[in-house]
Amino acid sequence: MRRAVCPGSFDPPTNGHVDIIGRASGLFDEVIVAVGVNKSKNRLFSAEERIEMLAEVTRPWPNVSVDSFDGLLVDYCRAHDVRAIVKGLRAVTDFDYELQMAQMNQQLSGVDTLFMPTSPEWSFVASSLVKEIATYGGNVAHLLPESVHRRLMDRIAERA
Ligand code: PNS
Repeated sequence: MRRAVCPGSFDPPTNGHVDIIGRASGLFDEVIVAVGVNKSKNRLFSAEERIEMLAEVTRPWPNVSVDSFDGLLVDYCRAHDVRAIVKGLRAVTDFDYELQMAQMNQQLSGVDTLFMPTSPEWSFVASSLVKEIATYGGNVAHLLPESVHRRLMDRIAERA
């Protein structure tokens, strides 16, 4: 069983995330999308909401499941017999930090990280930018799955 994990904050999931998850699902027998719930960052969506959104948008792929993790990613990998971490790389600016984490994770646990280039159409998309643009009234509908866009607009309206 070749099992991989696609970890992230997914606050909220974007078309860029969905692109990576869908492509990873074709390469592995099983893909777990793992939502990091470490407390340090201020999130717009709760872990439960992020899991729900991801479950909706990954429905087309039967070998993809969604879970959350707290603590170290490598501990999650060990506990779930995951041998590979799949990370999307949007641009070289992502590379420095991702390389450092990949090497650290490899040395801590032996779990390897595979980098997948983001499709060019999503290479500029980041959840943080999407939230900022939507908050100030910009159109982000084309950057998110429809169900995620609806929830984002509702959440921003609630907070206004
Ligand atoms: O979507 P993000 O914010 O880039 O996701 C980052 C995430 C959650 C994948 C990363 O911060 C992570 O793996 N956190 C878990 C804590 C951990 O294992 N830290 C050590 C990394 S070497």
